[in-house]
Amino acid sequence: MADREKLPALLRVLNGERLDPPPIWIMRQAGRYLPEYRELRKRAKSFLDFCYSPSLATEAVMQPLRRFPLDAAILFSDILVVPDALGQKVWFVEGEGPRLEPLIGRDSWTLGDPAKAIQRLAPVYETVERIKANLDPSVALIGFAGGPWTVATYMLQGRGGDKDEARRAAYQSPRAVEDLLDALVETTAQHLAAQVRAGADCLQIFESWSEGLSPALFQKLIVLPTRKLVTRLRELGVTAPIIGFPRGAGAQIAAYAQETGITALGVDTQTPASYAFDVAPEGMALQGNLDPQTLVVGGEAMEDAAREVLIAFRGMPHIFNLGHGITPEATPENVEQLVRLVKSWA
Ligand code: CP3
Repeated sequence: MADREKLPALLRVLNGERLDPPPIWIMRQAGRYLPEYRELRKRAKSFLDFCYSPSLATEAVMQPLRRFPLDAAILFSDILVVPDALGQKVWFVEGEGPRLEPLIGRDSWTLGDPAKAIQRLAPVYETVERIKANLDPSVALIGFAGGPWTVATYMLQGRGGDKDEARRAAYQSPRAVEDLLDALVETTAQHLAAQVRAGADCLQIFESWSEGLSPALFQKLIVLPTRKLVTRLRELGVTAPIIGFPRGAGAQIAAYAQETGITALGVDTQTPASYAFDVAPEGMALQGNLDPQTLVVGGEAMEDAAREVLIAFRGMPHIFNLGHGITPEATPENVEQLVRLVKSWA
Protein backbone atom coordinates (compact mmCIF):
# COMPACT_ATOMS: atom_id res chain seq x y z
CA MET A 1 0.00 0.00 0.00
CA ALA A 2 1.29 3.45 -0.85
CA ASP A 3 2.18 5.49 2.24
CA ARG A 4 -0.37 8.06 1.21
CA GLU A 5 -3.19 5.56 1.52
CA LYS A 6 -2.30 4.86 5.15
CA LEU A 7 -2.97 8.49 6.02
CA PRO A 8 -6.36 9.25 7.60
CA ALA A 9 -8.82 10.30 4.87
CA LEU A 10 -9.12 13.77 6.39
CA LEU A 11 -5.37 14.38 6.03
CA ARG A 12 -5.38 13.13 2.45
CA VAL A 13 -8.02 15.70 1.55
CA LEU A 14 -6.13 18.41 3.44
CA ASN A 15 -3.22 17.51 1.14
CA GLY A 16 -5.45 18.37 -1.82
CA GLU A 17 -6.83 14.95 -2.78
CA ARG A 18 -10.48 14.42 -3.76
CA LEU A 19 -12.06 11.40 -2.04
CA ASP A 20 -15.45 9.77 -2.70
CA PRO A 21 -17.13 9.65 -0.28
CA PRO A 22 -15.61 12.74 1.35
CA PRO A 23 -14.43 12.42 4.97
CA ILE A 24 -16.85 13.82 7.53
CA TRP A 25 -16.72 15.36 10.99
CA ILE A 26 -19.18 17.66 12.72
CA MET A 27 -18.26 21.05 14.16
CA ARG A 28 -18.84 20.91 17.94
CA GLN A 29 -19.43 17.15 17.64
CA ALA A 30 -18.95 16.66 21.40
CA GLY A 31 -21.61 18.49 23.35
CA ARG A 32 -25.06 18.94 24.69
CA TYR A 33 -27.05 17.21 21.91
CA LEU A 34 -25.58 13.96 23.35
CA PRO A 35 -27.30 12.72 26.56
CA GLU A 36 -24.06 11.04 27.67
CA TYR A 37 -22.28 14.44 27.42
CA ARG A 38 -24.93 16.10 29.60
CA GLU A 39 -24.45 13.30 32.13
CA LEU A 40 -20.64 13.62 32.07
CA ARG A 41 -20.81 17.41 32.33
CA LYS A 42 -22.45 17.07 35.80
CA ARG A 43 -19.17 15.69 37.13
CA ALA A 44 -17.39 19.06 36.96
CA LYS A 45 -18.31 22.18 38.94
CA SER A 46 -17.74 24.61 36.11
CA PHE A 47 -17.32 24.37 32.35
CA LEU A 48 -13.68 25.51 32.62
CA ASP A 49 -12.99 22.83 35.27
CA PHE A 50 -14.41 20.35 32.77
CA CYS A 51 -12.10 21.67 30.02
CA TYR A 52 -9.08 21.40 32.37
CA SER A 53 -9.84 17.81 33.40
CA PRO A 54 -7.95 15.49 31.02
CA SER A 55 -10.09 12.50 31.98
CA LEU A 56 -13.46 14.27 31.50
CA ALA A 57 -12.35 16.11 28.35
CA THR A 58 -10.95 12.91 26.80
CA GLU A 59 -14.18 11.06 27.54
CA ALA A 60 -16.19 13.90 25.91
CA VAL A 61 -14.06 13.58 22.75
CA MET A 62 -14.59 9.82 22.54
CA GLN A 63 -18.39 9.93 23.02
CA PRO A 64 -19.41 10.94 19.46
CA LEU A 65 -16.79 8.56 18.01
CA ARG A 66 -18.42 5.59 19.75
CA ARG A 67 -21.73 6.43 18.14
CA PHE A 68 -20.73 7.55 14.63
CA PRO A 69 -17.97 6.48 12.19
CA LEU A 70 -16.50 10.00 11.96
CA ASP A 71 -13.17 10.71 10.24
CA ALA A 72 -11.88 13.11 12.88
CA ALA A 73 -11.81 13.73 16.60
CA ILE A 74 -11.54 17.29 17.86
CA LEU A 75 -9.95 18.24 21.15
CA PHE A 76 -12.51 19.11 23.82
CA SER A 77 -11.65 22.57 25.10
CA ASP A 78 -12.82 26.10 24.34
CA ILE A 79 -11.48 29.14 22.51
CA LEU A 80 -11.73 31.10 25.79
CA VAL A 81 -9.11 29.05 27.66
CA VAL A 82 -6.57 31.44 26.08
CA PRO A 83 -7.87 34.61 27.84
CA ASP A 84 -8.36 32.54 30.99
CA ALA A 85 -4.72 31.41 30.88
CA LEU A 86 -3.61 35.00 30.21
CA GLY A 87 -5.20 35.99 33.51
CA GLN A 88 -8.51 37.53 32.37
CA LYS A 89 -11.47 36.34 34.40
CA VAL A 90 -13.70 33.99 32.31
CA TRP A 91 -16.85 32.21 33.42
CA PHE A 92 -19.85 30.57 31.76
CA VAL A 93 -23.43 31.43 32.65
CA GLU A 94 -25.80 28.49 32.26
CA GLY A 95 -28.10 29.05 29.28
CA GLU A 96 -26.42 32.37 28.36
CA GLY A 97 -22.84 31.67 27.38
CA PRO A 98 -19.43 33.05 28.24
CA ARG A 99 -18.71 36.14 30.31
CA LEU A 100 -15.38 37.89 30.82
CA GLU A 101 -14.32 40.98 32.74
CA PRO A 102 -14.19 43.29 29.69
CA LEU A 103 -11.01 45.09 28.67
CA ILE A 104 -13.02 48.05 27.38
CA GLY A 105 -13.23 50.50 30.26
CA ARG A 106 -9.97 49.37 31.87
CA ASP A 107 -6.93 51.65 32.03
CA SER A 108 -4.55 49.04 30.71
CA TRP A 109 -5.12 46.08 28.41
CA THR A 110 -1.82 44.45 29.32
CA LEU A 111 -2.07 40.69 29.44
CA GLY A 112 -0.12 37.96 31.17
CA ASP A 113 3.01 36.34 29.79
CA PRO A 114 2.40 33.86 26.89
CA ALA A 115 4.93 31.34 28.27
CA LYS A 116 3.12 31.30 31.64
CA ALA A 117 -0.22 30.93 29.87
CA ILE A 118 1.07 27.85 28.08
CA GLN A 119 2.17 26.38 31.42
CA ARG A 120 -1.33 26.91 32.78
CA LEU A 121 -2.75 25.12 29.75
CA ALA A 122 -0.73 21.95 30.45
CA PRO A 123 -3.93 19.93 31.19
CA VAL A 124 -5.12 20.67 27.64
CA TYR A 125 -1.98 19.14 26.15
CA GLU A 126 -2.31 16.16 28.46
CA THR A 127 -5.84 15.73 27.08
CA VAL A 128 -4.45 15.73 23.52
CA GLU A 129 -1.95 13.00 24.49
CA ARG A 130 -4.68 10.89 26.04
CA ILE A 131 -6.99 11.25 23.03
CA LYS A 132 -4.18 10.31 20.67
CA ALA A 133 -3.47 7.15 22.70
CA ASN A 134 -7.17 6.16 22.47
CA LEU A 135 -7.73 6.94 18.81
CA ASP A 136 -7.91 4.57 15.86
CA PRO A 137 -5.07 5.58 13.47
CA SER A 138 -7.58 6.12 10.63
CA VAL A 139 -9.19 8.96 12.62
CA ALA A 140 -7.41 12.32 12.45
CA LEU A 141 -7.01 14.40 15.62
CA ILE A 142 -7.82 18.11 15.24
CA GLY A 143 -6.40 20.69 17.64
CA PHE A 144 -7.92 24.18 17.65
CA ALA A 145 -7.96 27.74 18.89
CA GLY A 146 -10.03 30.82 18.28
CA GLY A 147 -8.85 33.31 15.69
CA PRO A 148 -7.18 36.40 17.21
CA TRP A 149 -10.06 38.76 16.35
CA THR A 150 -12.77 36.38 17.59
CA VAL A 151 -11.02 35.91 20.94
CA ALA A 152 -10.31 39.67 21.10
CA THR A 153 -14.02 40.49 20.67
CA TYR A 154 -14.87 38.41 23.74
CA MET A 155 -11.99 39.94 25.69
CA LEU A 156 -12.90 43.50 24.72
CA GLN A 157 -16.65 43.26 25.28
CA GLY A 158 -16.78 40.57 27.93
CA ARG A 159 -19.52 38.67 26.12
CA GLY A 160 -20.83 37.40 22.78
CA GLY A 161 -23.73 39.03 20.92
CA ASP A 162 -23.25 41.97 18.58
CA LYS A 163 -19.67 43.14 18.12
CA ASP A 164 -20.33 46.88 17.86
CA GLU A 165 -18.24 47.87 20.87
CA ALA A 166 -15.24 45.82 19.71
CA ARG A 167 -15.48 47.41 16.25
CA ARG A 168 -15.68 50.89 17.75
CA ALA A 169 -12.55 50.10 19.79
CA ALA A 170 -10.76 49.17 16.56
CA TYR A 171 -11.43 52.71 15.25
CA GLN A 172 -10.95 54.56 18.56
CA SER A 173 -7.89 52.75 19.92
CA PRO A 174 -6.20 51.16 16.87
CA ARG A 175 -2.78 50.82 18.54
CA ALA A 176 -4.16 49.14 21.64
CA VAL A 177 -6.24 46.74 19.54
CA GLU A 178 -3.21 45.95 17.39
CA ASP A 179 -1.15 45.19 20.52
CA LEU A 180 -3.93 42.96 21.83
CA LEU A 181 -4.07 41.04 18.54
CA ASP A 182 -0.26 40.67 18.51
CA ALA A 183 -0.33 39.26 22.06
CA LEU A 184 -3.07 36.82 21.02
CA VAL A 185 -1.13 35.79 17.90
CA GLU A 186 1.91 34.84 20.01
CA THR A 187 -0.05 33.01 22.72
CA THR A 188 -2.30 31.24 20.20
CA ALA A 189 0.71 30.14 18.11
CA GLN A 190 2.37 28.64 21.17
CA HIS A 191 -0.93 27.04 22.26
CA LEU A 192 -1.45 25.41 18.84
CA ALA A 193 2.19 24.32 18.56
CA ALA A 194 1.92 22.62 21.97
CA GLN A 195 -1.20 20.75 20.77
CA VAL A 196 0.71 19.49 17.72
CA ARG A 197 3.64 18.39 19.91
CA ALA A 198 1.13 16.50 22.07
CA GLY A 199 -0.28 14.64 19.05
CA ALA A 200 -2.72 16.81 17.04
CA ASP A 201 -2.54 15.93 13.31
CA CYS A 202 -4.04 19.17 12.03
CA LEU A 203 -5.41 22.44 13.38
CA GLN A 204 -8.53 24.54 13.00
CA ILE A 205 -8.69 28.28 13.63
CA PHE A 206 -12.26 29.27 14.57
CA GLU A 207 -12.69 32.85 13.36
CA SER A 208 -16.36 32.73 14.29
CA TRP A 209 -16.85 36.52 14.30
CA SER A 210 -15.62 37.47 10.84
CA GLU A 211 -18.84 39.17 9.86
CA GLY A 212 -19.69 42.84 9.55
CA LEU A 213 -16.17 44.19 8.93
CA SER A 214 -15.31 46.71 6.23
CA PRO A 215 -12.64 45.46 3.79
CA ALA A 216 -10.07 47.70 5.52
CA LEU A 217 -10.91 46.36 8.98
CA PHE A 218 -11.09 42.79 7.67
CA GLN A 219 -7.49 43.18 6.49
CA LYS A 220 -6.33 44.69 9.76
CA LEU A 221 -8.26 42.57 12.25
CA ILE A 222 -8.43 39.21 10.46
CA VAL A 223 -6.13 38.77 7.44
CA LEU A 224 -3.00 40.29 8.95
CA PRO A 225 -3.20 38.63 12.40
CA THR A 226 -4.04 35.26 10.82
CA ARG A 227 -1.08 35.56 8.46
CA LYS A 228 1.15 36.38 11.46
CA LEU A 229 -0.28 33.38 13.31
CA VAL A 230 0.34 30.96 10.44
CA THR A 231 3.86 32.38 9.88
CA ARG A 232 4.66 32.08 13.59
CA LEU A 233 3.40 28.47 13.65
CA ARG A 234 5.66 27.58 10.73
CA GLU A 235 8.58 29.33 12.52
CA LEU A 236 7.86 27.17 15.55
CA GLY A 237 8.33 24.12 13.30
CA VAL A 238 4.65 23.21 12.93
CA THR A 239 4.08 21.53 9.55
CA ALA A 240 0.53 20.29 10.30
CA PRO A 241 -2.24 21.47 7.94
CA ILE A 242 -4.30 24.43 9.17
CA ILE A 243 -8.02 24.82 8.46
CA GLY A 244 -9.16 28.44 8.68
CA PHE A 245 -12.86 29.05 9.34
CA PRO A 246 -13.80 32.70 8.86
CA ARG A 247 -17.51 32.42 9.60
CA GLY A 248 -19.61 35.21 8.13
CA ALA A 249 -16.78 36.73 6.07
CA GLY A 250 -18.88 36.65 2.87
CA ALA A 251 -16.97 37.86 -0.19
CA GLN A 252 -13.91 38.45 2.00
CA ILE A 253 -13.17 34.72 2.16
CA ALA A 254 -11.23 35.49 -1.04
CA ALA A 255 -8.66 37.59 0.83
CA TYR A 256 -8.67 35.14 3.74
CA ALA A 257 -8.03 32.10 1.52
CA GLN A 258 -5.39 33.82 -0.62
CA GLU A 259 -3.45 35.92 1.87
CA THR A 260 -3.26 34.15 5.24
CA GLY A 261 -1.27 30.99 4.38
CA ILE A 262 -3.93 28.58 5.69
CA THR A 263 -4.05 25.09 4.15
CA ALA A 264 -7.81 24.61 3.92
CA LEU A 265 -10.89 26.79 4.05
CA GLY A 266 -13.92 26.22 6.27
CA VAL A 267 -16.99 27.36 4.33
CA ASP A 268 -20.02 28.64 6.25
CA THR A 269 -23.66 27.88 5.42
CA GLN A 270 -24.36 31.05 3.45
CA THR A 271 -21.40 30.67 1.06
CA PRO A 272 -21.84 28.88 -2.30
CA ALA A 273 -19.32 26.05 -2.80
CA SER A 274 -18.63 27.35 -6.31
CA TYR A 275 -17.69 30.78 -4.94
CA ALA A 276 -15.32 29.26 -2.37
CA PHE A 277 -13.77 27.10 -5.10
CA ASP A 278 -13.34 30.06 -7.47
CA VAL A 279 -11.62 32.32 -4.94
CA ALA A 280 -9.48 29.73 -3.10
CA PRO A 281 -5.97 28.95 -4.36
CA GLU A 282 -5.79 25.99 -6.73
CA GLY A 283 -6.12 22.64 -4.92
CA MET A 284 -7.11 24.12 -1.52
CA ALA A 285 -9.37 21.73 0.44
CA LEU A 286 -12.81 23.09 1.30
CA GLN A 287 -14.77 22.11 4.40
CA GLY A 288 -18.50 22.54 4.95
CA ASN A 289 -21.28 23.56 4.81
CA LEU A 290 -24.59 21.90 5.76
CA ASP A 291 -26.98 24.11 7.72
CA PRO A 292 -26.82 22.94 11.38
CA GLN A 293 -30.59 23.48 11.65
CA THR A 294 -31.18 20.51 9.31
CA LEU A 295 -29.87 18.25 12.11
CA VAL A 296 -32.70 19.49 14.30
CA VAL A 297 -35.30 18.82 11.59
CA GLY A 298 -33.96 15.51 10.25
CA GLY A 299 -35.76 13.28 7.73
CA GLU A 300 -36.07 14.03 4.03
CA ALA A 301 -35.37 17.74 4.47
CA MET A 302 -32.00 16.99 6.07
CA GLU A 303 -31.15 14.33 3.51
CA ASP A 304 -32.03 16.61 0.58
CA ALA A 305 -29.92 19.42 2.04
CA ALA A 306 -26.99 17.04 2.63
CA ARG A 307 -27.17 15.79 -0.98
CA GLU A 308 -27.17 19.40 -2.18
CA VAL A 309 -23.92 19.95 -0.25
CA LEU A 310 -22.36 16.76 -1.65
CA ILE A 311 -23.30 17.79 -5.19
CA ALA A 312 -22.18 21.40 -4.78
CA PHE A 313 -18.65 20.27 -3.72
CA ARG A 314 -18.47 17.39 -6.22
CA GLY A 315 -15.03 16.97 -7.78
CA MET A 316 -13.37 19.32 -5.25
CA PRO A 317 -11.12 18.28 -2.34
CA HIS A 318 -13.98 18.33 0.19
CA ILE A 319 -14.40 17.60 3.89
CA PHE A 320 -18.07 17.22 4.72
CA ASN A 321 -19.09 19.30 7.73
CA LEU A 322 -21.68 21.78 8.91
CA GLY A 323 -21.53 25.47 8.08
CA HIS A 324 -21.35 26.23 11.83
CA GLY A 325 -21.49 24.24 15.10
CA ILE A 326 -24.17 21.65 15.81
CA THR A 327 -26.85 22.98 18.20
CA PRO A 328 -28.05 21.38 21.46
CA GLU A 329 -31.48 20.79 19.82
CA ALA A 330 -30.03 18.44 17.15
CA THR A 331 -30.63 14.73 17.76
CA PRO A 332 -28.05 11.92 17.76
CA GLU A 333 -30.40 9.95 15.48
CA ASN A 334 -30.24 12.68 12.85
CA VAL A 335 -26.45 12.80 13.07
CA GLU A 336 -26.33 9.03 12.62
CA GLN A 337 -28.55 9.25 9.55
CA LEU A 338 -26.43 12.06 8.09
CA VAL A 339 -23.16 10.17 8.57
CA ARG A 340 -24.69 7.08 6.97
CA LEU A 341 -25.82 9.11 3.96
CA VAL A 342 -22.42 10.74 3.46
CA LYS A 343 -20.54 7.44 3.93
CA SER A 344 -22.67 5.76 1.23
CA TRP A 345 -22.12 8.59 -1.30
CA ALA A 346 -20.07 7.55 -4.31
O1 CP3 B 1 -16.61 18.85 19.94
C1 CP3 B 1 -16.34 20.06 20.08
O2 CP3 B 1 -16.09 20.78 19.10
C2 CP3 B 1 -16.29 20.64 21.46
C3 CP3 B 1 -15.14 21.56 21.70
C4 CP3 B 1 -15.50 23.04 21.54
C5 CP3 B 1 -16.25 23.80 22.49
N1 CP3 B 1 -16.22 25.10 22.10
C6 CP3 B 1 -16.90 23.26 23.69
C7 CP3 B 1 -18.02 24.02 24.31
C8 CP3 B 1 -15.10 23.91 20.53
C9 CP3 B 1 -14.34 23.60 19.26
C10 CP3 B 1 -15.55 25.21 20.91
C11 CP3 B 1 -15.25 26.42 20.12
C12 CP3 B 1 -15.88 27.70 20.48
N2 CP3 B 1 -16.18 28.19 21.72
C13 CP3 B 1 -16.22 28.72 19.54
C14 CP3 B 1 -15.95 28.64 18.06
C15 CP3 B 1 -16.91 27.75 17.36
C16 CP3 B 1 -18.25 28.37 17.12
O3 CP3 B 1 -19.24 27.70 17.45
O4 CP3 B 1 -18.31 29.47 16.57
C17 CP3 B 1 -16.78 29.79 20.25
C18 CP3 B 1 -17.30 31.08 19.66
C19 CP3 B 1 -16.73 29.45 21.63
C20 CP3 B 1 -17.14 30.29 22.81
C21 CP3 B 1 -18.24 29.63 23.53
N3 CP3 B 1 -18.10 28.55 24.39
C22 CP3 B 1 -19.60 29.97 23.48
C23 CP3 B 1 -20.20 31.09 22.64
C24 CP3 B 1 -20.26 29.09 24.34
C25 CP3 B 1 -21.70 29.16 24.73
C26 CP3 B 1 -22.58 28.72 23.63
C27 CP3 B 1 -22.74 27.26 23.70
O5 CP3 B 1 -22.55 26.59 22.67
O6 CP3 B 1 -23.10 26.82 24.81
C28 CP3 B 1 -19.31 28.18 24.86
C29 CP3 B 1 -19.56 27.04 25.78
C30 CP3 B 1 -19.20 25.68 25.25
N4 CP3 B 1 -18.04 25.36 24.60
C31 CP3 B 1 -19.97 24.49 25.40
C32 CP3 B 1 -19.25 23.45 24.82
C33 CP3 B 1 -19.61 22.00 24.75
C34 CP3 B 1 -21.31 24.41 26.12
C35 CP3 B 1 -21.16 24.60 27.59
C36 CP3 B 1 -21.44 23.35 28.43
O7 CP3 B 1 -21.42 22.23 27.93
O8 CP3 B 1 -21.69 23.54 29.63
